[in-house]
Amino acid sequence: MSPEKLRITVLVDNHAAPGLTAEHGLSLLIDTGRHRILFDTGQGPALAANAPALGIDLSRLDTLVLSHGHYDHTGGLPLVLGSSDHIAVYAHAGVVQPRYSIRDGQARLISMPHEAMAALDRLDSDRLHWVPTPVWLDSTIGLTGPIERRTRFEDTGGPFFLDPEGSRADPIVDDLALWVRTGEGLVVCVGCSHAGLINTLNQIRRLDPDRPIRAVIGGFHLVAASEERLAHTVAALRDIAPRSVMPCHCTGDGATAFLKETLGAMVQPASAGMTFQF
Ligand SMILES: [Fe+2]
Ligand SMILES: [Fe+2]
Repeated sequence: MSPEKLRITVLVDNHAAPGLTAEHGLSLLIDTGRHRILFDTGQGPALAANAPALGIDLSRLDTLVLSHGHYDHTGGLPLVLGSSDHIAVYAHAGVVQPRYSIRDGQARLISMPHEAMAALDRLDSDRLHWVPTPVWLDSTIGLTGPIERRTRFEDTGGPFFLDPEGSRADPIVDDLALWVRTGEGLVVCVGCSHAGLINTLNQIRRLDPDRPIRAVIGGFHLVAASEERLAHTVAALRDIAPRSVMPCHCTGDGATAFLKETLGAMVQPASAGMTFQF
């Protein structure tokens, strides 16, 4: 069964339409007609500003999916959980672990903020669903669970560690993606693609074979990608051949321009305030 319609609205992104708030973060509203799902929350402030500005009532959400535990995807948890008394949350249990980004010897805590963890802690246990393996939210909406890292050219995309000394690399095991079956094919939402964009799309092709990938939207985390990684990513996207590729958030302006240059009209950069229909 395909959803009657699928509308994806970008609520939070690093870039925003005039009148909306931009922020380093991501939040997508996925409306399938039967479900209103929020995919990530941004850091919080942009969601608080943009949801009312776009006429989106957070109390009408039925599901919140967290792509991974970074602060720029989970900071709005208190706002979202405070807006709805029935929302169900889906995430990998690794979202709550402490984690750091280390640049020039300086460790920065980039985990889920304490207030967000406290909000998650207060949630009734029957509304909190840990996702250790793939799960279907209904017959048309899937969550990958942990994504196999098979390509040779992809990594987590940054200097991510589980300790402030930088002795344990953070594989970001909690990274997951969501996809929706539409009449036109599979529409994929990614948070930061820390598992690698191509690993993510390939995982979904293994989980839901026989249907083409129609589109992919979200952060591709190519901001620090080598030329080699970009070239391999473009070649793989040509092979997978989605009709639309909508990079935003942590893809990076340079990588977005490169994707546009090499893949042409298929690439439609997304920003807060945009809605895509399938
Ligand atoms: Fe991010
Ligand atoms: Fe991230």
